[in-house]
Amino acid sequence: MADSNAKMTQATPQEVIISVVAGLFAPLLAIFLIVQLVLGIQQEHKPDTTSDAAQKAMLSRIKPVAQLAALDANTPKVEKSGQEVYDAVCFSCHTPGALGAPKFENKGDWAGRLGQGYDTLIKHAIEGIRQMPARGGDGDLSDTEVARAVAYMANAAGASFKAPEAAAPAAAAETASAKPDPAKGKAIYDANCAACHATGVAGAPKAGDKAAWSARLGQGYAGLYANALNGIRGMPAKGGNADLPDADLANAVAYLFTEAGGKL
Ligand code: HEC
Ligand code: HEC
Repeated sequence: MADSNAKMTQATPQEVIISVVAGLFAPLLAIFLIVQLVLGIQQEHKPDTTSDAAQKAMLSRIKPVAQLAALDANTPKVEKSGQEVYDAVCFSCHTPGALGAPKFENKGDWAGRLGQGYDTLIKHAIEGIRQMPARGGDGDLSDTEVARAVAYMANAAGASFKAPEAAAPAAAAETASAKPDPAKGKAIYDANCAACHATGVAGAPKAGDKAAWSARLGQGYAGLYANALNGIRGMPAKGGNADLPDADLANAVAYLFTEAGGKL
């Protein structure tokens, strides 16, 4: 017995090596397969930024974000009308009269409040009052938008408040800054217009000749500018110089206009 026991527990060196290798083989194989699997997955998910299709796909994925960013950076926020603000934010309380809110179009609910005046109502709507949350709970609304919503609601209840208009857009500011300058127009006149307007060639009204201009001044500066721009009868468009920048033409017209007694 002792002998056979010893035989069972004692292995030859070859047996030891074989069993060790066999024992290690299974886990090694498993590790190898796992590594292959992970590498395979990574390969699949690695973005292929080289192919056209892949780039298009990527661009279309980031596009909405990029467009939004561009929108934010370059275009001024378009302010909503009073009705739009009301329909989006204020209606939830003011249509049903929730929390004691004065109901839309209910003159009785609003009568006492309207007496406070437009400015006070706007102030209360912006800052909030009792159960009325500041800006109706939408902090993104501008003062102008709230004021418009207040006018919309108040006017529906019988008031006649004048809602604030949109802030002057950049284009308007530009035109204002491009107000024609008669002082700058003198040199342009000398170079482009004097040939006819200094002498009265072909019936051109002479510069500074109030009688020749008096009937024309009634069109106002804008009317005269339009006719000088487009040409009229003997007056060629832009005085015949198509390359003259509009701003220069405007200054020259302003010069003729003020010399003739017109007020810009
Ligand atoms: C969460 C509900 C709620 C929302 C949303 C809400 N209101 Fe009100 N509002 C009230 C309540 C309640 C009152 C009455 C407050 C009081 O006088 O006690 C009120 C009152 C007002 C008044 C009268 C204030 C006064 O001085 O009498 C104005 C104006 C007004 N709201 C404008 C707005 C505008 C504009 C919006 C949307 C931008 C809006 N509300 C959204 C609940 C709301
Ligand atoms: C080739 C000649 C000629 C040149 C150059 C000329 N004009 Fe005239 N212009 C005329 C004549 C002719 C009239 C009168 C047209 C008419 O009412 O029959 C006139 C009229 C005008 C009027 C009045 C238009 C109206 O509605 O009554 C303005 C303003 C004017 N010119 C501006 C200019 C300016 C600014 C320039 C230079 C950039 C210029 N003109 C160059 C011939 C010229």
